[in-house]
Amino acid sequence: MAKDVIIACDFASRQQTLDFLGAFEGHRKPFVKIGMELFYAEGPDIVREIKRRGHPVFLDLKLHDIPNTVKKAMRVLSALDVDIVNVHAAGTVEMMRAALEGLTREDGTRPLLVAVTQLTSTSEERMQRELLIGAGIDETIVHYARNAREAGLDGVVCSPLEAAMVKSACGPDFLTVTPGIRFADAAKDDQVRITTPARARQIGSDYIVVGRPVTAASDPVAAYERCLKEFLNQ
Ligand code: C5P
Repeated sequence: MAKDVIIACDFASRQQTLDFLGAFEGHRKPFVKIGMELFYAEGPDIVREIKRRGHPVFLDLKLHDIPNTVKKAMRVLSALDVDIVNVHAAGTVEMMRAALEGLTREDGTRPLLVAVTQLTSTSEERMQRELLIGAGIDETIVHYARNAREAGLDGVVCSPLEAAMVKSACGPDFLTVTPGIRFADAAKDDQVRITTPARARQIGSDYIVVGRPVTAASDPVAAYERCLKEFLNQ
């Protein structure tokens, strides 16, 4: 199974993003994550431009709407030729199935589709009190991961510390895409449930999503290469 490091390109503009990626000219082209901020600011053209430069793209838009709307939106995203897209598992199995249908191109190919189970910003206490979900958070995450698998999705986005739990519930081939990565000797920033690239690999992450440890590094290419080395054990 492909394992890789995805750089979260959390920049506010096209120029900042392309300046950052320019540093990788002549190096391995990193897999990049484009989130809502950049996509809403710059539109689909930023995705086309990054793909044109040879980077695989995880488009992190976390769709959550009625099945028909998600299906039609996914058809549009699939035409952008992105490599990974996502939805909220809370949208139901029916919505996730509709997402898959919309993503699948006429020739049968499609981007990978993963689901967000519970956002790591949601505490167990708030989930129970505000969302009226009575189960514990780990049980909820595993249940939502099982729903995603039942719908035919490829995997989930979760904390690296939850990857083992998801793998044991859904099988070793069910992908785990995990943000919350920090080098052992670096700042945690606002992340709480974090681990290192090497430990994430041991626990079972397939793709680690790394933002500030690379984007805010004095030498981003060296920081990216350190992630690759630790995560891929190369
Ligand atoms: O800079 P940092 O490495 O913390 O960036 C992590 C990226 O992963 C950000 O784009 C953040 O929004 C995203 N993310 C996360 N935790 C989640 C889901 C997404 O940190 N549960």
